[in-house]
This record gives sequence, C-alpha cells and structure tokens, in this order.
Amino acid sequence: MLDDKQYWIERHKADKDKIASVGSRKYSETANYYIYKILKERYKLVLDMLELPDEKTALDAGCGIGLFSDFLHENGFKVTAADISQTGLDRIKTQSIAKICSPISEIIGDDKSFDVVHSFDVLYHILDDGEWKRSLDNICRLSGKYVILHERFFKTKPIISSAHLNARTHSQTTKVMNDNGFHEIISFPTHMIALRMLTFRISQYFPETFYKIDKYLLNRLENKKIRKFGSHFIKVFERN
Ligand SMILES: C[S@@+](CC[C@H](N)C(=O)[O-])C[C@H]1O[C@@H](n2cnc3c(N)ncnc32)[C@H](O)[C@@H]1O
Repeated sequence: MLDDKQYWIERHKADKDKIASVGSRKYSETANYYIYKILKERYKLVLDMLELPDEKTALDAGCGIGLFSDFLHENGFKVTAADISQTGLDRIKTQSIAKICSPISEIIGDDKSFDVVHSFDVLYHILDDGEWKRSLDNICRLSGKYVILHERFFKTKPIISSAHLNARTHSQTTKVMNDNGFHEIISFPTHMIALRMLTFRISQYFPETFYKIDKYLLNRLENKKIRKFGSHFIKVFERN
C-alpha cells in the first residue's frame, strides 16, 4: 500500500506554488481555480442555512494550503487549520488562523471544541480503513454542532480507482457518523458535469464554460429531485 502521508508531504513540496497541490494534478491552474470557485459559491449557500453563533469556531481538518481556512475566516469563523503537510500549512498567510501539523486521527483538543469541523476532499485520501474510522471519530469528537464533509459519497465502491484514493460508500460514512451521535441534515450538490469521468477530460480545456454550465444546472435544479445527479456533494451532519 502507498504511504499516503508521505505521498502528500512530497506532493505539497513538489507543487508548492500551485492549486494543483490540493486540486487535480491533471488540471491546469485555471481549471482548478474554477473547480474551487463553484465549490466556494455552493458552500456559502450551505453556511447561510446553518444556525451558528456570532462568535463561531471551525476546524479545517486536512486544510491543504488553506483555501477553505481562508474562506471560513472570511465568513466570520475563528479558524484552526490542520494538515499533515507543514509546507501546505506554511502557505496560509492569515495571521489569526491557528495551525496544527498532525494527522486528523491524532488532533488533540477538548471534546466539542469547535462549532464546525470541516473536512473537504480528505477522508478518501486516508488509505487505511482503521485510520479512516479513527479520523472520522476524532472529527466527530471535536465538533460541538456540525460536521461538514465534501466528496462524492458513492452508493457502491468504485471499481476503478487510483493508488492514492480509497473511497468509502455513503452508507459506510453514515454509519460512523450515526455511531458518533450525528445525523445528516443537508446534502447539497456542488458539481454536475465538470468532474464526471466522461466529461473530466474535456472540461479541463474549457474550465470557464463548464463552470458556467454547472452553475446554470445547479441553480435551475435547486429543490428538484434531479439534484441527486450531482457528482459531488457537501453534506452537513448535526449532533443529535
Ligand atoms: C485533496 S487535498 C484537499 C485539501 C483541502 N481540504 C482543500 O479542499 O483544498 C487533501 C489534503 O489532505 C491532507 N491529508 C491527507 N491525509 C491526511 C491525514 N490523515 N490527516 C491530515 N491531513 C491529511 C493532505 O496533505 C492534503 O493537504
């Protein structure tokens, strides 16, 4: 099995100044920019649905280069950013963001320390099943109210994968969340066609066009059943 931690430490060093250090290495910087742009726009709509205090705290678990640590900071959170890569953490320039260099499973802190524990596109990079569960358990332990995840949430385990990926199914994630006293309250699609297996190879050459198509589809399909055809989702889990 690939050493996933070493993989990420090396990748952050190799792609130090690029969004590709945390986005897709197959995409140009412009294409990665648009993938994050729509994700942030969708995330803002999700945050607006939540009941949070004026002085709110968030842990960005697996923060990478802090693209969402900064986003959460801009949206009024006192943010702590955690990652296994010090190179990634060093790219966060906002002084008031606290930084922890640690695997998620080993982050120390009081139970329920944060109003929100956020982890976008990290958990399926943890290859060992035991560590994956310990990471999710620790995320839940540290959250006082919400856990917010972003990934694909497959119904069945994908047959084709890469050495640095180990996607668990939506029901596997749900079971761990439920066992930790959390239940899903929001499932919000973030991408429709730009990141699908069949369009992925084309969309990288027309990123702005695919951004506009996805945005149009997502806005049009709001509250319709067809929302489930999104490729990626933000899911919010609330403590019971
Ligand atoms: C695909 S990137 C996503 C980064 C960030 N969440 C974002 O959305 O831009 C995955 C990140 O998870 C980090 N990571 C991988 N395994 C981790 C672990 N066990 N604990 C903490 N961070 C981890 C990697 O170093 C990398 O920065």
